[in-house]
Amino acid sequence: MARKVYRNLGAKISKVKSNRSKRSYEAAKVIVVPEIRTVPVSAKVTQINLGTSTVRGPSNISASNVTGNIGSVKGTGQSQPTGEKSSSGAPAPMAAPPGQAPQFAPATAQAVPIPMPMQGQGYGKAPVVQRQSILRERYEAIPLKIVEKEFPFVGVESEEMTEKLKAVSENYPLVSMKFKGKKVTVAWANISWNEPTHSLIYKIIEPRLDKKEYDQLGEIKSLLREKLDIDFSKIKLESAYQYLMRKFIKITSDLGIKMDDKTKLKFQYYLFRDFIGLGLIEPLLHDPNIEDISCDGTNIPIFIYHRNPIYGQLKTTIVFKKKEELDSFVLKIAQKTGRTLTIAQPLLDGALPDGSRVQATLGTDIARRGSNFTIRKFPENPMTPVDVIGYGTASPEILAYLWLCIENRLSVLVCGPTATGKTTFLNALSLFIRPELKIVSIEDTAELQLPHPNWIPVVARTGFGLKGYGDVTMFDLLKASLRQRPDYVIVGEVRGAEAYVMFQGMATGHPGLGTLHADTLSAIIDRLTTKPMDLPMAMLENLDLVVFLMLTKRKGRYIRRVSEIVEIIGYDYTRKDLVTNNSFRWDPMKDEFVLMKSVLLDKIRERMGFTIDDLKNEMSRRVQILKWLHDKKIKDFKRFAKLVGSYYTNPQFIGDLMKGEGEL
Ligand SMILES: Nc1ncnc2c1ncn2[C@@H]1O[C@H](COP(=O)(O)OP(=O)(O)O)[C@@H](O)[C@H]1O
Ligand SMILES: [Mg+2]
Repeated sequence: MARKVYRNLGAKISKVKSNRSKRSYEAAKVIVVPEIRTVPVSAKVTQINLGTSTVRGPSNISASNVTGNIGSVKGTGQSQPTGEKSSSGAPAPMAAPPGQAPQFAPATAQAVPIPMPMQGQGYGKAPVVQRQSILRERYEAIPLKIVEKEFPFVGVESEEMTEKLKAVSENYPLVSMKFKGKKVTVAWANISWNEPTHSLIYKIIEPRLDKKEYDQLGEIKSLLREKLDIDFSKIKLESAYQYLMRKFIKITSDLGIKMDDKTKLKFQYYLFRDFIGLGLIEPLLHDPNIEDISCDGTNIPIFIYHRNPIYGQLKTTIVFKKKEELDSFVLKIAQKTGRTLTIAQPLLDGALPDGSRVQATLGTDIARRGSNFTIRKFPENPMTPVDVIGYGTASPEILAYLWLCIENRLSVLVCGPTATGKTTFLNALSLFIRPELKIVSIEDTAELQLPHPNWIPVVARTGFGLKGYGDVTMFDLLKASLRQRPDYVIVGEVRGAEAYVMFQGMATGHPGLGTLHADTLSAIIDRLTTKPMDLPMAMLENLDLVVFLMLTKRKGRYIRRVSEIVEIIGYDYTRKDLVTNNSFRWDPMKDEFVLMKSVLLDKIRERMGFTIDDLKNEMSRRVQILKWLHDKKIKDFKRFAKLVGSYYTNPQFIGDLMKGEGEL
């Protein structure tokens, strides 16, 4: 019964979309765009129509623009002869069965080659491809008879790289405290080569206590434990610290302990670390270079993932030796997240007061190596497209393209395996949403940070007790949010039943952005069309773009890249499959992005009432702006959004800034 309703709804929604796509394709012509231009910034910026008008006039491409056909598309405005194969060898996607009208509109759809700054990189073979053929085009099978008998043995990691790692010796401050009106560093990080393990090791350097100090601190701590009557997680850090220090001074005077300044500072640090902070791992939480912290069980060192691309995972010198010690530590984490962790409910997903995400398991029969936890650090400053360019994760061309897509309210899913940077990329993309639009974001744990004034962030709530009484799911939240008439809906991570509401929203004029844990288009389709999401396949055509991210080690460096971008052109009812187009892909051999062709850009061009030249200029201008923002290191997300926002309302302002006129 439920399925039936789904199907009907799906069909209805798809119909709306097909009609829409059909109309938008009708006016399209065959277009070949030469390389990206260098447009002087001042070039009539004010004339650009930045509205998202959907008025469709006749095509305004002059005959001189029409220079021939692209890929498998033959001529203009004609449907493809039945059964004809495209040049890639894949069956022509829009071929109609004999005697029937073509089922799918893009018989006339064209792909606009993405204006290319790099010459000589071939355009994709077919502008619109069946998804299966993408794989066939890219890879070929290597015969396995390739093992050579006489082979000089060299490790995969080059000598040079190992030498580089052996030479590492890095120190930087982690924790500083105010002491007598001055800021004093009390804990440091040290990263250096460890010969016995033949790897780098991360050490925390903390103040050393002598025997007398150690005993005194032990005594103070046990008295403090008795006297503390406040739950520190419930009050502000500053007041918690002041309260703790008042108690500390009272206890030391009661005990008659006399300390010099040095000892006093040491005690203050350890009390802060153990009573307010997270104990042994507190200094790690202060290291902005750490992406995450993980503990796999007792007697296993804690690992961290370092942002330095040549380090990656690093062993630390912190180890929980006893089961009880680790168990009580994990319970302490749970208390800080405000969620429950018990033998009956041994799994926890939550956030620390600073926003860091925690996953923890209490060591019971289900965790064989004892309790474990992973803390994903919360960035103080969310990444902007400027950082994305800086890390080489995407090129200015890719971001200019996504900027145009988001401005035109297309729906995007950012996909990839865990920790590839999906949420970060999603947050960066959201900065392109026009500043005045209404955004509702829905998440399991609050990660997104947007500068938009009209932004409603909501977070799902797990219920209480074993029955989960009082839980509010992402599905509930999303359903409610659509009634708030958002211009954009952002779903932190699409996982369950909320997918249906999200896609329904997309079909009814509420474009969506989200992340999904899947690394191929087929995996996405599988996840979306099976339980618990269970969308009818045809509904997927409401999605416009899929951005794939990957994290890989290349030549000794850990890098994150947009591995490809797939445009969802529509749903082919005859083949019961999605029709897609690959607009960008990453070439791992050269570490370069290959610009292919875009059907969506043609759609956008038309929506904006642009000629092909207008589109080229618009793309070029945005590439220039992004490069300029990158050169100027505009990394603050609010500042970035403000400048991008000014491009919508007052493009001359940013043009002047780029020419060195006006105040930044
Ligand atoms: N493009 C990038 N370059 C470098 N580091 C990144 C990039 N994207 C994300 N990160 C870092 O990687 C970690 C995981 O990112 P996150 O977006 O949470 O991943 P995901 O959502 O895919 O699990 C974070 O610490 C983040 O700061
Ligand atoms: Mg994520």
